[in-house]
Amino acid sequence: MLEIKIAKYAGFCFGVERAMDRAWKALENNSKIYSLGPLIHNSQAVKKYEEKGLQIIDDLGTVGKGDTVIIRSHGVPLDVYIEAEKKEVNIIDLTCPYVKKIQNIASKYYNEGYKIIIIGDPNHPEVIGINGWCNNDGIIVKKIEDLDKVSRNNKYCVVAQTTMNLQVYDQICNKLKDIIADTVFFNTICSATKERQEAAMEISKTVDAMIVIGGVHSSNTQKLVQICSQFCKTYAIETIEDLDLQEIAKCSNVGITAGASTPDWVIDNVIDKIKSL
Ligand code: F3S
Repeated sequence: MLEIKIAKYAGFCFGVERAMDRAWKALENNSKIYSLGPLIHNSQAVKKYEEKGLQIIDDLGTVGKGDTVIIRSHGVPLDVYIEAEKKEVNIIDLTCPYVKKIQNIASKYYNEGYKIIIIGDPNHPEVIGINGWCNNDGIIVKKIEDLDKVSRNNKYCVVAQTTMNLQVYDQICNKLKDIIADTVFFNTICSATKERQEAAMEISKTVDAMIVIGGVHSSNTQKLVQICSQFCKTYAIETIEDLDLQEIAKCSNVGITAGASTPDWVIDNVIDKIKSL
């Protein structure tokens, strides 16, 4: 019989669960709410919220006085709050508290004359948001080569995208310590990311195949896929419909994990289907 091992930490993290719960409750009282970008990188969940009345917008251009707009867990730049206040838009701020903490660090140190280095993906909304708290003047470093753009003449404050790979973060910080003396470091990588990555790695070493459930645009899901595929055959799926069940049926054991933006019901559907094989 096919054995299923489920990662100890998988699926919604604290910040996403908090945002999804609060957004749902808000929609129960107000059927017309806007969200600046999709609430999470999961199309099934996004569809469910859209059916309940949530409308996704890219910016505040189309909303006006009295409208209600959700800021998702990734957070947004400071100027979005300023624009919302000017337009008298009601904000439901669901920025994850861990992301808020990074924004506060960036703002404080920027105002004290530090140059901010953000270790992360320049295209990720969380990083764009953090940069907006230091006047969009941060230096975004994704890989060690990007340190070439760091001059030695400043004092620096270093923060990281919450879902940054810890090894890459350490490499970049070690190199920075070698070249610049006046630097303060804040390891702001979220423990939820680390827990999910470690739990996935542990299981993937012991199974014939891993199934990683999550959105194709979810960066933490893609990182889980990378980690698991080092140790066993790995299937990246968004829903059960994407899974090659014939291949899974050939395994004697499979592991399951899911990105931080994958709802429980999507994970349960996969588990139920595999159990029925
Ligand atoms: Fe927050 Fe960490 Fe999740 S920063 S949104 S709890 S991955």
